[in-house]
Amino acid sequence: MNTSTIVSYNFRILFFCTLISGIIPQEIENLVNLVELAMEKNQITGSVPISIFNISLLQILSVWENNLSGFLPWEKSSLIELEELRLAFNSFGGSLPMEIFNILGLRVIDLTNNNLSGSLPPNMGSILPNIEELYMGNLTNLVGNIPHSISNCSKLTILELSSNKLIGLIPYSLGYLTHLQYLNLGGNNLTSDSSLSFLISLTNCRNLTTLALYLNPLNGMLPAFAGNLSTSLRTFVAYSCKIKGRIPNDFRNLSSLLYLDLSANSLAGSIPITIGNLRNLQRFNLSNNKLTGFIGDHICKL
Ligand SMILES: *[C@@H]1O[C@H](CO)[C@@H](O)[C@H](O)[C@H]1NC(C)=O
Ligand SMILES: *[C@@H]1O[C@H](CO)[C@@H](O)[C@H](O)[C@H]1NC(C)=O
Ligand SMILES: *[C@@H]1O[C@H](CO)[C@@H](O)[C@H](O)[C@H]1NC(C)=O
Ligand SMILES: *[C@@H]1O[C@H](CO)[C@@H](O)[C@H](O)[C@H]1NC(C)=O
Ligand SMILES: *[C@@H]1O[C@H](CO)[C@@H](O)[C@H](O)[C@H]1NC(C)=O
Ligand SMILES: *[C@@H]1O[C@H](CO)[C@@H](O)[C@H](O)[C@H]1NC(C)=O
Ligand SMILES: *[C@@H]1O[C@H](CO)[C@@H](O)[C@H](O)[C@H]1NC(C)=O
Ligand SMILES: *[C@@H]1O[C@H](CO)[C@@H](O)[C@H](O)[C@H]1NC(C)=O
Ligand SMILES: *[C@@H]1O[C@H](CO)[C@@H](O)[C@H](O)[C@H]1NC(C)=O
Ligand SMILES: *[C@@H]1O[C@H](CO)[C@@H](O)[C@H](O)[C@H]1NC(C)=O
Repeated sequence: MNTSTIVSYNFRILFFCTLISGIIPQEIENLVNLVELAMEKNQITGSVPISIFNISLLQILSVWENNLSGFLPWEKSSLIELEELRLAFNSFGGSLPMEIFNILGLRVIDLTNNNLSGSLPPNMGSILPNIEELYMGNLTNLVGNIPHSISNCSKLTILELSSNKLIGLIPYSLGYLTHLQYLNLGGNNLTSDSSLSFLISLTNCRNLTTLALYLNPLNGMLPAFAGNLSTSLRTFVAYSCKIKGRIPNDFRNLSSLLYLDLSANSLAGSIPITIGNLRNLQRFNLSNNKLTGFIGDHICKL
């Protein structure tokens, strides 16, 4: 890459096609008018040059799926205009750069699959009022609670926090996120009260299409009103959650379901006949429970 040529063009948008390897050149800082830097899905190695953090007009920084590493020196950053930050699937290390949570205009933060450690800021609701998509799955050491203040991130549509070490109660306030479409809390150490009341609150999220809770010790009774979740719900995955109780008749109302997995819980009773109403089901796993009774026509005809 001839960086002096790049610099002479004074680009506003710089997009690198796939299968570029190498490093991000230091001279990138000369592109003072750069608004968008997109170099995702390449084989770029090394660290992000500190000079990138001086391109103060930058709105989109997208370097996901590369082989970048090192620390993110965010404390020296001038990226105040940033709206999308996509760093997923790299090997960035160290502490979660808390400074990113102070960029008021951020709509997308994607840090999934990096070697980062830290916790969610307790006041995230007041400092990230514009966030729409937050992906922080599979970080090396994301600990602590899901803060209640998340309910003030009222534009959230995607919340991905799976495969971390989060603990504590799943906040009831998630139900205030009425635009929520995708919620994945699987593979943490999250709990609930004995009536899984956060599920009541999630019935407010009428556009919810994916709800994944698998591998958390929820330890509660599946409530009848779980059938009142969004009729747009396509994926409901809650295996290995220590869920008790019966499968509610009202599950028939979840008519968009494609994928239902409640396996490896402690559900008892029979499979309600009304399950036969779930005409779109493609994957259905109830194994490893304490269910009894027949597997009748209503299921065989699905
Ligand atoms: C960022 O810009 C400031 C002022 O122009 C300059 O003093 C500083 O050295 C720059 N930092 C980097 C890392 O390029
Ligand atoms: C990524 O970097 C590691 C070492 O830093 C190296 O072993 C690996 O081959 C690299 N992968 C790619 C796709 O370049
Ligand atoms: C992840 O970060 C820790 C310290 O924060 C470091 O000891 C470890 O080597 C890093 N692992 C990888 C795969 O980079
Ligand atoms: C999660 O991260 C660990 C460690 O970086 C890695 O070994 C594992 O493959 C990742 N899992 C997924 C689903 O990407
Ligand atoms: C949400 O924001 C309002 C107004 O700033 C504040 O009064 C309320 O305490 C916040 N809620 C939470 C749970 O932080
Ligand atoms: C739900 O989705 C529809 C269609 O995409 C959209 O028009 C509507 O505004 C969304 N409602 C909420 C509360 O996000
Ligand atoms: C999960 O949290 C409980 C306490 O709430 C703790 O005893 C247990 O060790 C934690 N498990 C994991 C895998 O972190
Ligand atoms: C289900 O939702 C409807 C409409 O929002 C409401 O009228 C009804 O009471 C709810 N049922 C339960 C069991 O929560
Ligand atoms: C499910 O739908 C039936 C009618 O189709 C309605 O009577 C019932 O209240 C609904 N259940 C819930 C929990 O919304
Ligand atoms: C069904 O669930 C069990 C227990 O969680 C799991 O071992 C099995 O692989 C699942 N089967 C399918 C077909 O997904």
